[in-house]
Amino acid sequence: MDLTEATARVGVLRREIADHDHRYYALDAPSIPDAEYDRLMRELLALEAQYPALVTSDSPSQRVGGAPSAAFAPVTHAVPMLSLGNAFDDAEVRDFDRRVRGLTGEREIDYHAEPKFDGLAISLLYRDGVLVQAATRGDGSTGEDVTANIRTIAAIPLRLRNNPPALLEARGEVFMPRDGFARLNARQAGRGEKAFANPRNAAAGSLRQLDPRITAQRPLRFYCYGYGRVDGRLPDRHSERLDLLHGYGLPVCAQRQRVTGIDACVAYYVELGRLRADLPYEVDGVVYKVDRVDLQERLGFVSRAPRWALAHKFPAEEAVTVLENIEVQIGRTGAVTPVARLKPVFVGGVTVTNATLHNEDELRRKDVRIGDSVTVRRAGDVIPEVVGVVLERRPVDAQPFVMPTHCPVCGSDIVRVDGDAVSRCSGGLHCPAQIKAGIAHFANRRAMDIDGLGDKLIEQLVDRGLVHDVADLYQLDLPTLTGLERMAELSASNLMAAIGASKQTTLPRFIFALGIPLIGEEVARLLSAEFGDLETLLAQDWAELHARKQAIAKANQKARKHNVDHPERPALPVQDLPLRGIGPEITDRLSDFAADARNVEVIRRLLAAGIRFADNGAGQRNADAGSLALAGKTFVITGTFSQSREVITAALQELGAKVTGSVSKNTDFVAVGDNPGSKASKAAELGVTTLNETALLALLQARPGSGS
Ligand code: IVH
Repeated sequence: MDLTEATARVGVLRREIADHDHRYYALDAPSIPDAEYDRLMRELLALEAQYPALVTSDSPSQRVGGAPSAAFAPVTHAVPMLSLGNAFDDAEVRDFDRRVRGLTGEREIDYHAEPKFDGLAISLLYRDGVLVQAATRGDGSTGEDVTANIRTIAAIPLRLRNNPPALLEARGEVFMPRDGFARLNARQAGRGEKAFANPRNAAAGSLRQLDPRITAQRPLRFYCYGYGRVDGRLPDRHSERLDLLHGYGLPVCAQRQRVTGIDACVAYYVELGRLRADLPYEVDGVVYKVDRVDLQERLGFVSRAPRWALAHKFPAEEAVTVLENIEVQIGRTGAVTPVARLKPVFVGGVTVTNATLHNEDELRRKDVRIGDSVTVRRAGDVIPEVVGVVLERRPVDAQPFVMPTHCPVCGSDIVRVDGDAVSRCSGGLHCPAQIKAGIAHFANRRAMDIDGLGDKLIEQLVDRGLVHDVADLYQLDLPTLTGLERMAELSASNLMAAIGASKQTTLPRFIFALGIPLIGEEVARLLSAEFGDLETLLAQDWAELHARKQAIAKANQKARKHNVDHPERPALPVQDLPLRGIGPEITDRLSDFAADARNVEVIRRLLAAGIRFADNGAGQRNADAGSLALAGKTFVITGTFSQSREVITAALQELGAKVTGSVSKNTDFVAVGDNPGSKASKAAELGVTTLNETALLALLQARPGSGS
């Protein structure tokens, strides 16, 4: 393809991708499968790599984030960004409506009711339809320029559609959906980094990154709920103005509603409260806005808040109750968790009787005592936790808790290693509590998914000596199961079927099911994508991998510093780390696990029982992987390319290839970029074919229907 053809094709691809982003984020109606979207993006990336002159700042390829900056410049808001008055009960809401009616002389008011998103306010400035500046609210008059970070959020259009006015400042909330927040925290934990307290902090922290490439990896979304300066005529109602902004391509929440009168506002509030826990993002209340803009103008402002709007807050997902006792629970890794037994309390929509106290340090830090009144929090579907003590209500006879020195289940010593927050039962696989918790984890829906194998049943199986480890589950038979208490024939045969069905699983599920400390679902997925099969994973030389990682990290650090100090000089390449997202704590646990012959034996017996992996989770999106151009081929990537390693990996997987982290005689190709690691020499040693970037791109593009 020559430059002229490439220019035309790049234009078509950008429009198509922007259209799909719009359908996905603004219309909530994706029209093509993810794989097809990825294909378009890949083609665009390849063309831009081939013709760097074609790269423009509004290309969707640029969402990956530009160079880091030293600080955020101040931005003065032409129209101040205000805050909202709050109401915590119906009476305050009715007062508000009375005031609005009194001041306007209207008998009944049309309101626009919207969720109050729990993120942070952002102003987006579009000139001639192009996003030119994004700023935080700051103190309302002056915010910070976060344009580079905002540009990485795919939900925010870089260019508006449908003839927007020459100048338009949209305002709204940047937030992190719950699922993305959970994934981010899992990743943080995997890297040994601090978890974020809640999605709002995570969203704020993500926007405050000086390096937009980090923001680009954060799952942020955006809903527009208002505007600042706009040149040109606008409709007379707030609801219609939001419709207009939606028409320009800005995402506007579908949950919003125009209602008449304050009773309808309260009904909306009750309904959203009911939906709250199921919404994919957190809301901390509802906002009512007078819909007619002429009335808004008549009402004006008091201090920093409009008289025409009100935030009706949801009750916090916290409540106070009495802590009646503290007991300890032994987890599958022996971790001793103090659990609070509570006087039943209704919080976050359910009655809570137990809450976690996490560990001994937490318990000491909060100085929780038996008999105390405590604040309990339950947000979303997380385990309820004791947040703190209401000291004023402490009874004189409140009892400090003493951590037991022996496991209440097996009697083994409870030990606490220096530097570890967690105390552990040292009984290991002799401790029935650990065995039971390990089996429950193995059977979990997100692990091997053995339906019907509940805690009560596991208890019986272990206590009767029928099951000693997870491999024993596959030796159970129908007569044994029907011989158990409260086990009808039908449930027994259903359980047998579920155990049988669980044999067909995926590698990430299996790795997760093994219950290796610190290996959650996310890490299991990373490991299985990196290593491709169980043997390679278990045979890793972790010490060598760490040494290599450290060397690369050091080189990267130097390169980043160089980039900041000498922006005028060509940037040094920054290499991707092997096993990105997996820290030494995790690999230490993996090597401990693999070094224990008992574990290896359990795995051997599980595989002998017939456990099979459908795929490694990497090529999951390709149901018909067998028919793809690179099906069955194993790749290893080393060194730096013009695209990130993630992009190349995705491109290869899309064609059915398996991408693994280490070179072996089973590797078909090693893609070698600049500054390759030891994988290149390993490839030479084993005689594995290597590909440079040009050869790799040629391979990726030489497929039917790629348009090139
Ligand atoms: S309107 C003039 N609408 O709440 C009114 N704000 O306390 C300006 N917020 O910082 C705000 N959801 O970030 C409005 N649907 C919504 C909102 C909303 C969340 C936040 C906003 C602002 C704070 C105001």
